[in-house]
Amino acid sequence: MQNTVIAPSILSADFGRLAEEVRDVVAAGADWIHFDVMDNHYVPNLTVGPLVCEAIRPHTQAVIDVHLMIEPVDSLVPAFAKAGADIITFHCEASRHIDRTLQLIHNEGCKAGLVFNPATPLEYLDYVIDKVDMVLLMSVNPGFGGQSFIASAYDKIRAMRAKLDAYEARTGRSIRLEVDGGIKTNNIAEVAKAGADTFVAGSAVFGMKSPEGYKEVISAMKAAVASVR
Ligand code: DX5
Ligand code: ZN
Repeated sequence: MQNTVIAPSILSADFGRLAEEVRDVVAAGADWIHFDVMDNHYVPNLTVGPLVCEAIRPHTQAVIDVHLMIEPVDSLVPAFAKAGADIITFHCEASRHIDRTLQLIHNEGCKAGLVFNPATPLEYLDYVIDKVDMVLLMSVNPGFGGQSFIASAYDKIRAMRAKLDAYEARTGRSIRLEVDGGIKTNNIAEVAKAGADTFVAGSAVFGMKSPEGYKEVISAMKAAVASVR
């Protein structure tokens, strides 16, 4: 299993002061910046593209974790790589050729991750696992911040943890397990116990509305995870 990462989602940040928000949240202890891209086609909401990724890139050295909720996927991968993405993840159902998309992301010099919606079976991973650097399990249906954690995600996280541990025992290669949606200070320990190492939190962090508040929540989240790991 990999080290703990807290990745605040800028979806809930103040977009009028986005660069400042990014700097503040990293200063408050955020490990990564989670960047949610929505196209009003694959998901019923519209957010930001490569231009905004490029705009925040000079403001932080933190990993930018680009979560693509778009269809098709491949045409925008090179643009996000050029815009400074470190990791690019996409949904199983949004790519016609998952293996090809994973290769494309690597060829563009980024780490690649595969995303599973609450109803998506874990078997999508089986024949491409060698090309995956991170798995992202959604604990809400993608499209909006501020939704409630779907409880069936716990069993799914445990099942994925078992798969990834078995793979690591076999190959020596460890794959990150990120969980996204409805993570708060009061459930993050359960999510960690189930086997996640990477935690996205949007409204829980940015809902605090101040750098002191960001620090309070991120510290509480790290302490909660440390208490069970
Ligand atoms: C949902 C996004 C999430 C979302 C998380 O489609 O992928 O990253 O912003 O926000 P919270 O933590 O508020 O559920
Ligand atoms: Zn996300």
